[in-house]
Amino acid sequence: MAGLLKEIDERRAKRALSEDKIPDEVVARLMKAATYAPSCFNSQPWRFMVVTEGDSLGKLHDALSGGNYWAKKAPMLVVVATKLTLDARLSDSRDYAPFGCGLATENLLLQAFADGLYAHPMAGFDPLIVKEAFDIPEDYIVITLIAIGYPGSLGGLSEKHVAAEGSARNRKAETEVISYNSWSFE
Ligand SMILES: Cc1cc2nc3c(=O)[nH]c(=O)nc-3n(C[C@H](O)[C@H](O)[C@H](O)COP(=O)(O)O)c2cc1C
Repeated sequence: MAGLLKEIDERRAKRALSEDKIPDEVVARLMKAATYAPSCFNSQPWRFMVVTEGDSLGKLHDALSGGNYWAKKAPMLVVVATKLTLDARLSDSRDYAPFGCGLATENLLLQAFADGLYAHPMAGFDPLIVKEAFDIPEDYIVITLIAIGYPGSLGGLSEKHVAAEGSARNRKAETEVISYNSWSFE
């Protein structure tokens, strides 16, 4: 759409990843972008585990759900975790730690796009396997894994995922999610 930031307009959750290594300075930039996100009281509730080494990647592969087979090609997986006590817990269920992680994750996704990478967040994994494999304390919430890599070939992707690579963006009608000057949702 005209006027939108290019990164917002063109970023997509793609799956055709290359196994090529991501240079250290690019990794550092992605993670810096993530940490520049705003957070409630500047609590910075996010904790990132950046995984690029074979054995550690393998442990995360064991945690992925079947549908996320494609993420095993990623040369880099980022584990995003938090604890509710790492950020403000305000009235009416306003736990801001996961919210902050979302903001940081989006920063990372947009910086990755600007650096010519695909970065794809996932909920399809078993957090208990991740916690056990890396001795992450029980009270952490492993909120997402992000698969990151340069664009690669479609080979190895399921038919459904090949089709998704070139699909149009799919969003609810704006009237379903945005109201102006009055509340219009059930
Ligand atoms: C929290 C979260 C979890 C997601 N989990 C998965 C996942 O496990 N597997 C997957 O292929 N895509 C996953 N996605 C990607 C979404 O399906 C994708 O962002 C959505 O369909 C919109 O497409 P777009 O990002 O290309 O606009 C996830 C996205 C988010 C934000």
